[in-house]
Amino acid sequence: MNLMTTDESVRTRGTVFDRDGTLVADYRLGNRSGRPAALDLRLHRLPAEAAAPAILTALPGWVVSARADTGAVLLASGGRLLRHLHRYARELDPQADGDGWADPRIEVRPVTSVPPSALYDSWIAAYPPEHPDGTAHPNPEDLDVLYHGSALGPLLDASVVALDRGRAVAAVLVNDAELLGPWISEVFRDPDPAYAGLGARLLRHTLGLAARAGVPSIGLAVTEGNPARTVYERLGFRPGESLMHVVLPGGERETPGGGAVDTSIET
Ligand SMILES: CC(C)(COP(=O)(O)OP(=O)(O)OC[C@H]1O[C@@H](n2cnc3c(N)ncnc32)[C@H](O)[C@@H]1OP(=O)(O)O)[C@@H](O)C(=O)NCCC(=O)NCCS
Repeated sequence: MNLMTTDESVRTRGTVFDRDGTLVADYRLGNRSGRPAALDLRLHRLPAEAAAPAILTALPGWVVSARADTGAVLLASGGRLLRHLHRYARELDPQADGDGWADPRIEVRPVTSVPPSALYDSWIAAYPPEHPDGTAHPNPEDLDVLYHGSALGPLLDASVVALDRGRAVAAVLVNDAELLGPWISEVFRDPDPAYAGLGARLLRHTLGLAARAGVPSIGLAVTEGNPARTVYERLGFRPGESLMHVVLPGGERETPGGGAVDTSIET
């Protein structure tokens, strides 16, 4: 699961200055987990240890998303880790990636041929509480906002569902993300061992559809500790930036139950 806020103005940037008026960092303004968020924070003062005091003073209680090395410094300064994620990207080639679907037991269709509710059971089962992206109470709305395009951008036609005798057992969602380009926002399969390997096969099929539709490259993000990383690497995805989402100490206490609804999709 990959998560960016829906309700922020994606172009609003904020800045952090030192006491002497020197620019220390800039970021994209958003919200996350009911808190204000400094997204894609970029340092103008290095090393991160030198920038951290001004950031901690300027943004108490905020969520900061930044490169993992900056995130580690903020953690060492009393921050709390929300998510550590790795971005991957893969170039597409309509010749090399363009194979069809070969498994006669499983029907593959555009995901929009089923309502998002048809995906809920397998999706929830794919993210048990012990999964790095799992929660005790998975929220189908997180899937709905990806399906309807309101979180990242519209779904691309390469988004597919795999059906076993009419039951949705796996899916891949690809969104045309405003800031990230074509983006695999979700891939999952039913955890029944009968479907082992189906996730990678469906993903490969999606890459072929996207390649034939003229999509030049596709990205995704995966949480640290998720074994799905090996699947992506085997499929030829190359690692890019590693990011951390860190809650800075201080500021308002988190509202029990969330306060503002967390509609964010981390990327
Ligand atoms: C990612 C996913 C779609 C891949 O599906 P798949 O291609 O059918 O692959 P599998 O689920 O069989 O597992 C892939 C590899 O991870 C390993 N793996 C899966 N779960 C694991 C776990 N809990 N602990 C350790 N290894 C695990 C498998 O053994 C397999 O490795 P192998 O191929 O070397 O045997 C599927 O694992 C899934 O739905 N995961 C949960 C949702 C998820 O994390 N989605 C990705 C979000 S970025």
